[in-house]
Amino acid sequence: MKQLLPLLIFINCHMIQVSGVLEWTVTGKATDYGQNVTLFCHVPNCCPKDAGWDRWTPVQRTLFIDVKTGRPNKKYDGKAEKDGYTLIIQNLTKDDLNVSYSCLYGVTLGQSKFLLKEDVFTDKSDNKPTGRFSGIQITGIIIGVVVPLAVAVVVFVILYKKKRKKRSEADDPLLETEEPSSIEYIEGDDATLTCQVGPKNLHVDWLKDGKAVKLNRNCTTFRQGTEHNLIIKNVKPDDSGEYHVQVGNFSRKIQLKIIVYFLKDPSDIKCKEGEDAIFTCNVMVDSPSLLLLKDGNDITRNTNILEMPPDGTQRSFKLINTKQVDKGEYCMKVGKSSRKFKLNFKGT
Ligand SMILES: *[C@@H]1O[C@H](CO)[C@@H](O)[C@H](O)[C@H]1NC(C)=O
Ligand SMILES: *[C@@H]1O[C@H](CO)[C@@H](O)[C@H](O)[C@H]1NC(C)=O
Ligand SMILES: *[C@@H]1O[C@H](CO)[C@@H](O)[C@H](O)[C@H]1NC(C)=O
Repeated sequence: MKQLLPLLIFINCHMIQVSGVLEWTVTGKATDYGQNVTLFCHVPNCCPKDAGWDRWTPVQRTLFIDVKTGRPNKKYDGKAEKDGYTLIIQNLTKDDLNVSYSCLYGVTLGQSKFLLKEDVFTDKSDNKPTGRFSGIQITGIIIGVVVPLAVAVVVFVILYKKKRKKRSEADDPLLETEEPSSIEYIEGDDATLTCQVGPKNLHVDWLKDGKAVKLNRNCTTFRQGTEHNLIIKNVKPDDSGEYHVQVGNFSRKIQLKIIVYFLKDPSDIKCKEGEDAIFTCNVMVDSPSLLLLKDGNDITRNTNILEMPPDGTQRSFKLINTKQVDKGEYCMKVGKSSRKFKLNFKGT
């Protein structure tokens, strides 16, 4: 792997542990639409980190990046409390239900969970007085309540044991914590995001700006032992962003920044045949040298091309005494980044 991809940059992995699953519950119920409903995200010793909320369906929407600094609006409010933080959905409507919400604390993404009608409204039948039970009713209660309760207890015990097991994996020395990392690549490079996730055969998810990374020919994952990689070929400026590696309840952030050499792209040129044409663009100060290409061939050193002295970040080529054959598509190239433009003649 290292020989295949010499550009690989290895970064140490940093796993953040929040005890238990980061999950919200409904703490403030309503009796009718139009009222407030409060969701509560349980976080012990809340909240030195960013305490955010997302709404997931039909489209993902960030409600709060951090309830401590976010401004409340007519619809949503949020507050930090001692053992967690809230999302207050005001003036409840049908549109607020049957959609999922998730809380996001620091870099830990909570489970996204549906808010259902039955979670939101206080059940009036709870308060109905109960009479004496007949034999059939008692049998019904045993089947309807005791059996599901026993099953729930068994399921809970199994899940709890699983969680304990996962947590002990998080104590693995390979998952030592470090500061969140950020990496930089130049436009056109192949970027590799790497994370070490312990010796076990764990499933890893990659997310970009909160959404699952779409894997395709240009974006692949690669695993070698404990090392998980996301490889993005020929990176573009919009590959920049916040990536998360997610393993169960643990997640870690990798900030990817794409450096773009071109500050200003060359624009299409129109001139009269026989005149000189000047091609101009702006590039970053320490960029590699600029090349001029026509039909894929480097013409920078051709005799009819004159490279003008740089002016600040501006770079220009003069094409002397233009001829019909000079018409067409050109390309300016810096390192692996290139920008296309056209030369045309007036009145043709
Ligand atoms: C609903 O929530 C908002 C924001 O927290 C609050 O100002 C308002 O008083 C609440 N309304 C009711 C009826 O509780
Ligand atoms: C609550 O929402 C409904 C429907 O969107 C709207 O007609 C009503 O004016 C809202 N009420 C308040 C108090 O904002
Ligand atoms: C939520 O979905 C269920 C079934 O998918 C539907 O019966 C119910 O009416 C929906 N509720 C709202 C408030 O849209």
